[in-house]
Amino acid sequence: MTDDRILLELKSISKSFGPTAVLEGIELAVRDGEFITILGPSGSGKTTILRMIGGFTQPSGGEILLEGRDITGLPINRRPFNTVFQDYALFPHMTVAGNVSYGLMVRGRPRREIARKVSEALDLVQLGPLADRYPAQLSGGQRQRVALARALAARPRVLLLDEPFGALDKNLRLDMQIEVKRLQRELDITTIMVTHDQEEALTMSDRIVVMSNGRIEQVGTPDEIYGRPATAFVSILKSMCPKTQTSLCRSYCCGHPTELPTGPSANLGITSRNSPMRDTFSSSRTFVAVTDRKVSL
Ligand SMILES: Nc1ncnc2c1ncn2[C@@H]1O[C@H](COP(=O)(O)OP(=O)(O)O)[C@@H](O)[C@H]1O
Ligand SMILES: [Mg+2]
Repeated sequence: MTDDRILLELKSISKSFGPTAVLEGIELAVRDGEFITILGPSGSGKTTILRMIGGFTQPSGGEILLEGRDITGLPINRRPFNTVFQDYALFPHMTVAGNVSYGLMVRGRPRREIARKVSEALDLVQLGPLADRYPAQLSGGQRQRVALARALAARPRVLLLDEPFGALDKNLRLDMQIEVKRLQRELDITTIMVTHDQEEALTMSDRIVVMSNGRIEQVGTPDEIYGRPATAFVSILKSMCPKTQTSLCRSYCCGHPTELPTGPSANLGITSRNSPMRDTFSSSRTFVAVTDRKVSL
């Protein structure tokens, strides 16, 4: 359950690579138990934020606080976070069990504890019977589960997910979205996910952070983002996609320009009505797509 306690804070975070500034003025407070999604087009700086939280790269300016304590300079292995990378980054020469135990071994946990936690983590993702297989002997979905089990084995305070479903085909992606959300609820684990997929963000998140060009455009619940867009950019997210002819383009970096349709009611539509995720995660929300032209309801 989300509570109002702030677990993690990004304060005035900026990041430059050489002379190029890629992030500026990033302010974000993540609540304990929250599922928060960073949504933005390719190149907007999502992965860079996640990597800074995980400790894989240092901010050029600003601070990262965990329960009020400055962890900006803390090395990766001293942060109670774990990451599922976009390509899973499994060790090909290690078995499933070996991959899942790796983080615990690096942290110097006793052998008996490691065995128990690995077995629990594999049970969580229903991979117990495949513990002795190697990554090359697994399907894409199974590899994703291994990466998830590896990240969850140490029960991190924060789970970081970078486009975790990007490599899966559509049906499997939906299954895994449901699975990840179930685990997040069951384990009550604060989760920060990065995606460019609006529907994924909409259906899985307690709050969404909309990014564009290295800046945060808006932070809010799915209802707030879709009901009261703070900027033109956020409202454009919801305009008609000429490719899918739906009011909500699944992936707004699909390469198709989103032109704002004209007419007061042209772009009024309920989004995600048929999404299987919708029934699973939200019972009463109604998402209405509007443009930055005012539409009365
Ligand atoms: N190690 C790096 N060196 C130079 N530029 C980088 C590096 N990592 C990311 N960038 C640049 O930073 C910007 C944001 O990248 P990234 O955070 O990966 O975006 P996203 O995950 O939203 O697609 C991009 O323009 C990218 O080219
Ligand atoms: Mg990325």
